[in-house]
Amino acid sequence: MKALCWHSPKDIRCDEIPDPTIEHPRDAIVKVTSCAICGSDLHLYDGYMPGMENGDVMGHEFMGEVVEVGSDSRHALNVGDRVVIPFTIICGECEQCRRGNFSVCERTNRNKNAADKVFGHATAGLFGYTHLTGGYPGGQAEYVRVPYADRTHIKVPKNGLSDEQVLFLGDIFPTGWQAAVQCDIQPTDTVAIWGCGPVGQMTIRSALLLGAKQVIAIDNVPERLAMAQAGGATTINFEKESVVERLNELTQGKGPEKCIDAVGMEAHATATLDSIYDKVKQSVMLETDRPHVLREMMYVCRPAGTLSVPGVYGGLLDKLPFGAVMNKGRTIRTGQTHVNRWTDDLLRRIEEGQIDPSFVVTHRVSLDDGPGMYKTFRDKEDGCVKVVLRP
Ligand SMILES: NC(=O)c1ccc[n+]([C@@H]2O[C@H](COP(=O)([O-])OP(=O)(O)OC[C@H]3O[C@@H](n4cnc5c(N)ncnc54)[C@H](O)[C@@H]3O)[C@@H](O)[C@H]2O)c1
Ligand SMILES: [Zn+2]
Ligand SMILES: [Zn+2]
Repeated sequence: MKALCWHSPKDIRCDEIPDPTIEHPRDAIVKVTSCAICGSDLHLYDGYMPGMENGDVMGHEFMGEVVEVGSDSRHALNVGDRVVIPFTIICGECEQCRRGNFSVCERTNRNKNAADKVFGHATAGLFGYTHLTGGYPGGQAEYVRVPYADRTHIKVPKNGLSDEQVLFLGDIFPTGWQAAVQCDIQPTDTVAIWGCGPVGQMTIRSALLLGAKQVIAIDNVPERLAMAQAGGATTINFEKESVVERLNELTQGKGPEKCIDAVGMEAHATATLDSIYDKVKQSVMLETDRPHVLREMMYVCRPAGTLSVPGVYGGLLDKLPFGAVMNKGRTIRTGQTHVNRWTDDLLRRIEEGQIDPSFVVTHRVSLDDGPGMYKTFRDKEDGCVKVVLRP
């Protein structure tokens, strides 16, 4: 089959590799009908996440049709079922899964020992996302093996909704939703969201659906800011205006109650002192992440406010103004998304027409054109916001 394989940073190729087979009775094989490139894939493409190996199959946002089911999954899945696969592989039985903390499932990371050493505790297995999260082949491929398939799926109706309307249930839609839910939004709240990439776009709409009074979105890419505005946000271009000054202006000098980092470890900034410091340290491997957005949020968020961080960080962060966090009594909430915790509710909202997540798609290509699309998406060329691949 064809699959997008990682070879080294900035070298992803569409290779011919063997089809996956059932390896365990709880597995299923899914024929992928649509998959997407996620902002998290860019951290692998750019080489900032440790634990990738030559030949790893990329992709953790995908859906398709079940074509084979292992004997232990047959009570839950049938050949022919239409499924979206969550990026987090879940057993459904461990203590964390039973609490709905699916992204920290205790059983599905098959490289638990290595992850325990790096992070203190292993987290769930993830598709197409480094050997620290299990090294499972991903879904930017014609077929994929889904481990723990009896629990690791979201069934979607066969008719009515298009692939693009439901595909993002596997990642960016629940990610934006969880980021907003973790802010415990009140009807009087201003929610500021850094990053108008696909995750930021979902976060903007989620915050408004959850009843925020005002949503302010920050980026420097004009077409992404325009999409944010179309979704109901007031926008700030960080290249053209001071983010802190504008946020204070828009909140009567008090700062936003809720701040969400939908940017993560590869933040860009105009030449501020801290961003130059980060670039230099990251380039000589003395810092893994560029936490400019976190610093800005810690500075500007209203006292007693909440910082929600769906943006991915990989390691050790430098020069964070933790004094501001502590003295102003802030709450920080973060995490990889507990996808299946939210998806029944979100599928219902799509079916009811409250939201159609396909608005974010700008590019549709074949797997063969996937490698080039990584660059287009990363460099935000050609108005690219979200890429869907059709194997
Ligand atoms: N927590 C999760 O489970 C989860 C799931 C999916 C994605 N993510 C993470 O969410 C983040 C965003 O993903 P995405 O798909 O939207 O990626 P993306 O790279 O397309 O979007 C990031 C956006 O941030 C903007 N940006 C950069 N520096 C900024 C700054 N200083 N201020 C404001 N905006 C800035 C960029 O211009 C870009 O539009 C990534 O870190 C990704 O890994 C997390
Ligand atoms: Zn993702
Ligand atoms: Zn579990």
